[in-house]
Amino acid sequence: MKQQQRILKTLDRVLSKAGAGSRTEARSWIGNGRVKVNGKLVQTPDHWVDVARDTVTLDGKPLTQAERRYVLLYKPKGYLTTYRDPQHRPTVYDLVPGLGQFVGTVGRLDLDTSGLLLLTNDNGLAEAITNPEHKIPKTYLVKASTLLSDEQLDQLERGVELSDGVTRPAVVKRVRDSGKYTFLEITIMEGRNRQVRRMLEAVNSKVLKLVRTRLGSLTLEGLQIGKWRELTKAEVAGLRKTAGAKRKS
Ligand code: URA
Repeated sequence: MKQQQRILKTLDRVLSKAGAGSRTEARSWIGNGRVKVNGKLVQTPDHWVDVARDTVTLDGKPLTQAERRYVLLYKPKGYLTTYRDPQHRPTVYDLVPGLGQFVGTVGRLDLDTSGLLLLTNDNGLAEAITNPEHKIPKTYLVKASTLLSDEQLDQLERGVELSDGVTRPAVVKRVRDSGKYTFLEITIMEGRNRQVRRMLEAVNSKVLKLVRTRLGSLTLEGLQIGKWRELTKAEVAGLRKTAGAKRKS
């Protein structure tokens, strides 16, 4: 008989995946003794849970798989991509109130970056999108602090040396030169921390303005800055196909 594969996840992850709250919240509930696994109190967030067999309860109530939500937000600059900020600055969660479920951000945009940000409680899809091996294209519009030569654009396209290694080939298009600045569009297949800003620094320029305009097949079309909408079923299916994600996560 074919043996069923065991899917093990840490307890904090199981709670956040079920849409109960963020992982930070989950860790504090676990620490505060509100969570049981198979009727036994567990206070270690890294406790392994067999997703198919173990029963997890929060305040005595079994977890149920939350309805999947997929939120496309046009993030303005000045909002942090984090759930809670100790300094109480605005976060992207201030822009999507009342969803009724916790959705995590798929990757991050810097405080000063605006543009397309996806939030979801479908962790399988989120992981597939952020996995650099899946090479999901992300397109950014950049205002550079200098005029960039064709050679500099070629360098960005071929790959530049960053502190965490050479960047993978990108697609770079000059949009226009205006006075002292070059506007360009860059599509990268990875999503390292502050990658576009660091790439521009590597060719002796700087990012003055950064907008993410596209993620896979998703665009900001029809969405005003600061607003959000849910993805259509077709968009989710398309994204899942591009990212090579399995239906169930
Ligand atoms: N690259 C950056 O440098 N910043 C972002 O926010 C996204 C990509």
